[in-house]
Amino acid sequence: MNFALVLAGGNGSRMGNTKTPKQFMMLGDKPIIAHSVERFFVEPDFEKVIVLTPAAWVSSTKDIMRKYLPDMTKIVVLEGGDTRNETLMNGIRYIEKEYSLDDDTIIVTHDAVRPFVTHRMIIENIEQAKLYGACDTCVPATDTIVASEDGKYISSIPERRKLYQGQTPQSFKAKRLKELYEQLTDEEKAILTDACKIFSIKGEKVAIVSGAQSNIKITYPYDLKVAGTLLGVEVEDD
Ligand code: CTP
Repeated sequence: MNFALVLAGGNGSRMGNTKTPKQFMMLGDKPIIAHSVERFFVEPDFEKVIVLTPAAWVSSTKDIMRKYLPDMTKIVVLEGGDTRNETLMNGIRYIEKEYSLDDDTIIVTHDAVRPFVTHRMIIENIEQAKLYGACDTCVPATDTIVASEDGKYISSIPERRKLYQGQTPQSFKAKRLKELYEQLTDEEKAILTDACKIFSIKGEKVAIVSGAQSNIKITYPYDLKVAGTLLGVEVEDD
């Protein structure tokens, strides 16, 4: 069984308006979160689309879903966690409780603030997670990436052709992710903010699915402006 997990448990501090976390801000005719959930809702491959939000927003998220999506039978709204990984784990715990986890339980996890994910990316995520156990949606780095230990001087400049920028979806065999996560110490959990890294540090393969430049994450007010201009534009999915 496949499940979509739309991660919306953050408070968007970099957007500067934490009273209304960015995922609830309007983008065109509906909140950002409604755009993102819709992308998964229309995919017949998902048993449920699980939306995880801050505790204080569970009730209004249900209202938003009722207002902007055609029906609620496929949607579950739950409370997220203190960290992105804890939010993700709350989704897995729900699946385990309601359906139980087996080797064929696939989760496609997605940032609620990436409303331009495509059908192609979602389908390839499901395929690659089934094949390899984990996959990440990435684009080749366009800028040269420099590393700095102290923020003052460059410590190294890795070869650009080997570098990618990680987007979402990130997809996993849920049972394996839970097993690996439970092996981590609290310190490791604090460092491993990226769920794919949990697989890669344990030496497990994480496949790459091609993302797109248009699959932006709305982080700063500037990104919301960019998202507004991308809306309704036929974007090449290459
Ligand atoms: N997220 C989550 N649960 C958390 C923290 C983050 O589900 N405890 C989600 C966010 O809601 C967002 C996605 O993870 O959809 C990507 O994170 P980011 O853009 O960093 O969101 P925020 O943590 O909300 O933003 P900021 O870092 O600016 O506070």
